Amino acid sequence: MLRKFIFLFIGVFSALFSKPVEFPQVIDFGSFDLRPSYAGERGWQWYLRNANYQSVLGAFNGAPEFGAFFAFLKNEYHIDIVIETGTHLGNTTQFLATCFPEVHTIEIMETHCNRAKEIFKSQPNVHCHLGSSEKVLSELLPSLIDKPIVFYLDAHWYDYWPLVDEIEEIAKTHKNNCVIVIDDFKVPGRNDLAYDAYVIDGILHECSYEYIKAHMEKAFTDYNMHFLLPKNAIARAKFVAVPKKMVLRS
Ligand SMILES: C[S@@+](CC[C@H](N)C(=O)[O-])C[C@H]1O[C@@H](n2cnc3c(N)ncnc32)[C@H](O)[C@@H]1O
Repeated sequence: MLRKFIFLFIGVFSALFSKPVEFPQVIDFGSFDLRPSYAGERGWQWYLRNANYQSVLGAFNGAPEFGAFFAFLKNEYHIDIVIETGTHLGNTTQFLATCFPEVHTIEIMETHCNRAKEIFKSQPNVHCHLGSSEKVLSELLPSLIDKPIVFYLDAHWYDYWPLVDEIEEIAKTHKNNCVIVIDDFKVPGRNDLAYDAYVIDGILHECSYEYIKAHMEKAFTDYNMHFLLPKNAIARAKFVAVPKKMVLRS
C-alpha cells in the first residue's frame, strides 16, 4: 500500500514539475562540440553532449553525430520504439539497434531486406519488414497504438514517394504521440544545402516543409519544428517535428 502511494506520488510529482528541455530550431552539428561535459546548466546542450550513444560511422548517410540527437530523443521523451523507412544497407539501423529496445525497419527491395535480416538475425530487438513503407506502416502501427514512437522517414528514392502517405498512416494511430524525423530535407534560407527533389510525371516532389505541411497538420495538433545540420553537408539535413504536448524528463 505504502509502495503504491510512493509510486503514485512520484508519478504525480514528475507530471506536475517536469519541464520540457527547450532546444533551438536549428542545431548545426558542424559548429557544435559533442564532447561530454558534465558541468554546467542542464540545458539542451548538456543533454545532447551527455547522451549515452554509441556511434556507428555509416549511420545517417555518414553523419554519426546525429546519433546523439536520437539518444537524446529516446532518453528524454521515454520513447523505446523507433521505425525507419528505407533500410538500404542497414547502416542507420545498426546505430538504432544500439540505442532503442525495439527497432522496426522497412524496405521495398527484397535483396536489401534479406541482407538486413541476415545482419540482424542475432539481434532480437530489430524487426526487418519487406514492403512499401506506407503499407507496412498501416499493418504495423495499430499493434503499437498508445506507445510513443520515433519515426525516421528515409524511403524517398524511386518514382513513387511514400513520404506523405507515411505521414497519413502515422496520423491515424499516433497523432501527437510520436516524433517525426525526415532525411534529406530543405532548410529554409540555406540554398547551399542540397535536399531531395524529383519531378515525377510533371509533379514536383521535394523534401520541403511546403510539401508535407498539410499532412503534418493531421499528425500533430501543435508541434515544434527543428532542423539538424550535419558536420559534412553531403550527409544532408534532417527535419524534426516534436508535438508541443510531449513533456521531456526534468
Ligand atoms: C536513402 S536509402 C535509406 C538509407 C538508410 N535509411 C540509411 O540511413 O542507411 C532509401 C531506401 O528506401 C528504399 N525505398 C524506396 N521506396 C520505398 C518504399 N516505398 N518503401 C520502403 N522502402 C523504400 C530504397 O530501396 C532504399 O533502400
